[in-house]
Amino acid sequence: MGVLLRISTSINSIRDHETLQRRLLESIFEVVPAERGAVLLAGRGQDEITAVFGLERDAASGRGVKVSRTIVQRVLRDSVAVLSNDVRDSDDFAEARSLAVANVHSVLAVPLQFADRRLGVLYLDSSSPKARFDEGHLRLLAAIAGIASVALENARQIQWLENENRRLLHDAGLEHNMVGESPAMRAVLEFVAKVAGTRATVLITGESGTGKELVARAVHQNGERARKPFVAINCAALAATLLESELFGHERGAFTGAVTQKQGKLEVADGGTLFLDEVGELAPALQGKLLRVLQEHEFERVGGTRSIKVDVRVVAATNRDLKEMVRTGAFREDLFYRINVVALAMPPLRERREDVPLLARYFASKDAARCNRRVEGISAEAIDCLMNYDWPGNVRELENAVERAVVLGSGEILRPEDLPESVLEAEPRAQPCVTRYHEAIQATKKEIILKAFKEAGGNYVETARLLDVHPNYLHRLVRTMNLKGTLRK
Ligand SMILES: Nc1ncnc2c1ncn2[C@@H]1O[C@H](COP(=O)(O)OP(=O)(O)O)[C@@H](O)[C@H]1O
Ligand SMILES: [Mg+2]
Repeated sequence: MGVLLRISTSINSIRDHETLQRRLLESIFEVVPAERGAVLLAGRGQDEITAVFGLERDAASGRGVKVSRTIVQRVLRDSVAVLSNDVRDSDDFAEARSLAVANVHSVLAVPLQFADRRLGVLYLDSSSPKARFDEGHLRLLAAIAGIASVALENARQIQWLENENRRLLHDAGLEHNMVGESPAMRAVLEFVAKVAGTRATVLITGESGTGKELVARAVHQNGERARKPFVAINCAALAATLLESELFGHERGAFTGAVTQKQGKLEVADGGTLFLDEVGELAPALQGKLLRVLQEHEFERVGGTRSIKVDVRVVAATNRDLKEMVRTGAFREDLFYRINVVALAMPPLRERREDVPLLARYFASKDAARCNRRVEGISAEAIDCLMNYDWPGNVRELENAVERAVVLGSGEILRPEDLPESVLEAEPRAQPCVTRYHEAIQATKKEIILKAFKEAGGNYVETARLLDVHPNYLHRLVRTMNLKGTLRK
């Protein structure tokens, strides 16, 4: 009964693809009367199978597992499940000659999907006319496929992380610390590759925590100035007068407390890059002075008269709408055009949710190493919660949530109960494509939970124990799956 959740716990910590696939098929053989099974994985293009792992229930027969290409392609391309108990008589698969060769009677195949990504196909068959697959097997297999997809995607992403630097360096010749493979993130890397080699002033906009500073560093690191300093200054952190002397430096005696002469960040950054974070907070007087630096490459220290020449590339960032600030007079228009030579808008994390598991895993392994803790992975349920949350604080908030989980969590797998309340409390998002396949998974999950409740006499803690999940997570499931009403009856 708890087979789904058992599978979920047993396969979630497996990093190695082959072990994972073997364990998965063995678990399936326990509940579906198939003779052979195979996990077929699609390549990057998502429409061709590039890897097959087959297993026979009776391994002694040693005939190897042959799968029908026709059926697999159908399942993969159309994201449909196939259930057939008389394959040879079916008009649909008349061309599937490999079936006849293997003398196959019944076939059951479902897609493996993660978010919108087509990962592959889970395939079962049988030659015995007595072993028939039914609708129940189909629903069970679909639900198992849902769980397996998360585990497979996790394993794939771990491999991705391991190869990440090498591959990205090869792909774009870029050096950076940005994790992500969503189209939005790829566009960001392409932008960096394009502008790094120029000396154009760059404006990076985007919500706080989206990685603006990382981009600024990557722009610096991949240009000719990489060996010269990268100097960051946050325009919101200091009062205007302090900021001014930080930026431009001051002469001795320029103001009370200026007991020595001091170089400003502009001078320190000579030959390199100056990162002006939160540039929208710059006071009007300083806006004018900065404009002069950008136009004439020179300035005076506070309290000084001598002009100092510098060669500095400016990268600025803001989470404000500078255009609107220009309209209301809060930001100088001429400065805006000087800064906004090339601009990049960082996507908020909620618009590239597919990067969430990858980022979470990346932070988990980083934090685990730092805290000297053993963390083997993140459970499918926890990934579910992370993907479902809106991340108003973007990557920084995710980073903090994962760090907290690593520090406070008790097991080697991060679980939903290790995550902050705010993440767990998130309302489930409406599924973009409600297919029959998703409905089948939901229905099966519901059925399992309701059965467990019945067996436990309606007791939450006991039900959670039967299902091998944390009671908090069970509460969340009941809430998000709208089971409260059903349970009360
Ligand atoms: N793509 C990413 N990969 C890895 N870490 C990231 C990524 N984007 C942001 N971070 C991390 O999130 C935190 C916030 O990033 P930061 O660049 O300071 O954002 P912003 O400047 O937009 O507020 C930092 O700790 C940064 O290392
Ligand atoms: Mg920042």
